[in-house]
Amino acid sequence: MADSASSTLRDAGTPGMIRIAPSVLAADFGALAEQVGEVAASADWLHVDVMDGHFVPNLSLGPPVVASLRRHTPLFFDCHLMMTDPGKYLSDFAEAGADGCTVHVEVGHTEDLIAQMRDLELRVGLALNPDTPFDAVEPYLSAVDLVLCMTVFPGFGGQSFMADVLDKVRQVRSAVRAGSWGVDIEVDGGIDATTAPLAAIAGANVFVAGSAIFGHERPWESADEIRESIRSSIE
Ligand code: DX5
Ligand code: ZN
Repeated sequence: MADSASSTLRDAGTPGMIRIAPSVLAADFGALAEQVGEVAASADWLHVDVMDGHFVPNLSLGPPVVASLRRHTPLFFDCHLMMTDPGKYLSDFAEAGADGCTVHVEVGHTEDLIAQMRDLELRVGLALNPDTPFDAVEPYLSAVDLVLCMTVFPGFGGQSFMADVLDKVRQVRSAVRAGSWGVDIEVDGGIDATTAPLAAIAGANVFVAGSAIFGHERPWESADEIRESIRSSIE
């Protein structure tokens, strides 16, 4: 069971704590509220993938869906903006009920985007694609709340975990430790009870899983299994 079930409404929790974040991308969009309800007690955050058909070759959902879901759950909404121009929509996401937004470092304007997210009182995340080096995020580590190391190329669920990215996870973890910054390190793509422990050992603490959770007949069981696999790997 998630310890967040009894915590403060929409609290991200202490940076560095293990967080399980089911990705709604793999859920049945026709029954989204029920699907989220099924994982709520076993999830810490809800990962919401936003795709613009430009930064990634796929479309998913936008602020209206976030606003609708907001009425159904108190879970922390971790919105992953796979968009070329996220700045144009940050206020819409904040208004819709996003708690944290993560923008990609590859789209540039990083300082401006961080400032905008702070002004909107959003939790600030910065994402890197698998082939984007650690150096791209290093200058911003003291200014963000979360670094998302993509473990697949973004755009689609159900892809295979890229273990090569773990070197970068280790680099981010060691820099965050050295700076004593309260920064979460998230992994996203191909995460399940086999790959999550590898990422945890490398230093990740937030685990996004789409198909491993919503592709399961009892999604809460899969979320619990992933949490347990991480716990036993880092004990
Ligand atoms: C990929 C998305 C992921 C996706 C993960 O572009 O950012 O959040 O939902 O899906 P799985 O867990 O199926 O790899
Ligand atoms: Zn994502």
